[in-house]
Amino acid sequence: MTDAQGIFKRLKEDHDHHRELLDQMADTSGETEHRKELLEKFTKEVKSHAAAEEQALYSTMMRKPPTTDDTRHSVAEHHELNEALNDLAATDMSSSAWMAKFKQLDHDYRHHIEEEEEDHFPDFEKHLDDNDVAHIEKVFDRRKKEEKAGAEVTPEAKGEGKE
Ligand SMILES: [Fe+2]
Ligand SMILES: [Fe+2]
Repeated sequence: MTDAQGIFKRLKEDHDHHRELLDQMADTSGETEHRKELLEKFTKEVKSHAAAEEQALYSTMMRKPPTTDDTRHSVAEHHELNEALNDLAATDMSSSAWMAKFKQLDHDYRHHIEEEEEDHFPDFEKHLDDNDVAHIEKVFDRRKKEEKAGAEVTPEAKGEGKE
């Protein structure tokens, strides 16, 4: 395994954890402590993962012409994900709208991480040199920890935010 593969393995471990949390949330119903706890856990985990992924990996891929477009695409999806998480947090958990919004978020996020794993990461690997790999390794876990310490659930209905 090259060092670059190690980085992508690390990111995929996070994605597997996110899929587990999504499965658990899909099994919840109504306004329960369990659903609240899982949503908080998922939100903090995914926001910090996405932020650290941007700071460690995507910042590196952004400055390489062959991977700039895919980077823009993924970062835009992170932004949409944050909006969807905030909108879900602003939705009444006891309403059927909550599950409808959750299902959309579940679908969109699984698509995002599958695209990273199947399309982006294998391509990115070809463009990383040893310095990039060392940088990404150093930055990801440190940034994720710091981002997680500051991550919050920030309820905000879609369309209410400042543009
Ligand atoms: Fe991502
Ligand atoms: Fe990711």
